[in-house]
Amino acid sequence: MTKIKIGIIGSGGMARNHLTRFASIPDAEIVAIASRNEQTGTQLAKEHTTVFIPEWQRLVEREDIEGVVICTHNDSHGEMTLAALRSDKHVFVEYPLASDVGEGEAALQLAEKRGRVLRVSHPEAVSNTHTALKQKIGELGDLLLTAFVRLTPGRGARPEILFNLPVSGTPAHFFIYHIYPIVDFFGGAASVKRNAVYEGLRETGQYDGFVNTLTVEFKRGGIGQWTWAGGIAINAAEEHERYVLTEGTISDAGGEWHCTTPSGVTPIPIPDSPQQTLQELWFSEIRGAADQPPNLEDATVALEAIRISLASE
Ligand SMILES: NC(=O)c1ccc[n+]([C@@H]2O[C@H](COP(=O)([O-])OP(=O)(O)OC[C@H]3O[C@@H](n4cnc5c(N)ncnc54)[C@H](OP(=O)(O)O)[C@@H]3O)[C@@H](O)[C@H]2O)c1
Repeated sequence: MTKIKIGIIGSGGMARNHLTRFASIPDAEIVAIASRNEQTGTQLAKEHTTVFIPEWQRLVEREDIEGVVICTHNDSHGEMTLAALRSDKHVFVEYPLASDVGEGEAALQLAEKRGRVLRVSHPEAVSNTHTALKQKIGELGDLLLTAFVRLTPGRGARPEILFNLPVSGTPAHFFIYHIYPIVDFFGGAASVKRNAVYEGLRETGQYDGFVNTLTVEFKRGGIGQWTWAGGIAINAAEEHERYVLTEGTISDAGGEWHCTTPSGVTPIPIPDSPQQTLQELWFSEIRGAADQPPNLEDATVALEAIRISLASE
């Protein structure tokens, strides 16, 4: 089998993570790594015996690269995805798909027009838990309410990146991975209402703490609510998730999922069958794109998710 030649943009935590996964796929060839950070970029290129390129545009243009993996901060995903698709590359981009809905829409249109695979790094595509919950939700009638709450004391390892509106977007946008699975269950939103409070907000767009809420009405009915708070006076992180449907309620219960109906509480079984990795899935999609147009269902959910997260701006 011929190798699939890829290039990586970014040289931080996620680039390292993806590189480890790709390095374990026998038909992957890592042709080059591009990053604005010469120190971490050259180090990572050395570790994977590949070429370092300081300018990501040069990587995207290379004719010996078939697929581009984008692992930079949120503010550049849309621009890089569009440039890679324009150069006829398949794309694997870290979430969120883009920080501008127009860029996200253009990316989907371009991927469809050029027959390129556009995969956003949302792990639900290969998650047994997500599949089991989706099936159970399908058995429990119509959605009335989904409610998600996350409270975190800390500010993360890199608050200058995360708690930074121009770079990462609002908390709802950098927590897009709490929105994507719910949009995959229930579809897009007909309307979005939002509130945000930032503690210590500076002119640069950096801040010390936040509360951000979103309430959506789904096109197919039912209400979705998300609440995130970070950098707050709490001892340990808390997270709660509920799906209230007409025939039962699903809730997270300390690492397990329960379904509650008027007749009692039952655990939702999650199979532990091994799944392929997202990187392997992307490769199989690239191989498939030689014969038929790529499936953009997942990228469409990622686009619907940013329509919600970006409405929080
Ligand atoms: N899938 C997941 O499980 C997961 C988990 C965490 C994060 N993420 C997402 O992954 C992305 C990267 O996160 P990370 O934790 O890897 O961040 P990180 O460690 O800060 O790495 C980002 C890398 O991209 C480089 N970079 C940023 N903007 C660039 C630009 N415009 N041009 C060229 N290089 C650029 C950075 O260079 P500098 O060193 O100069 O900043 C750095 O090398 C974020 O969008 C985040 O939301 C996904």
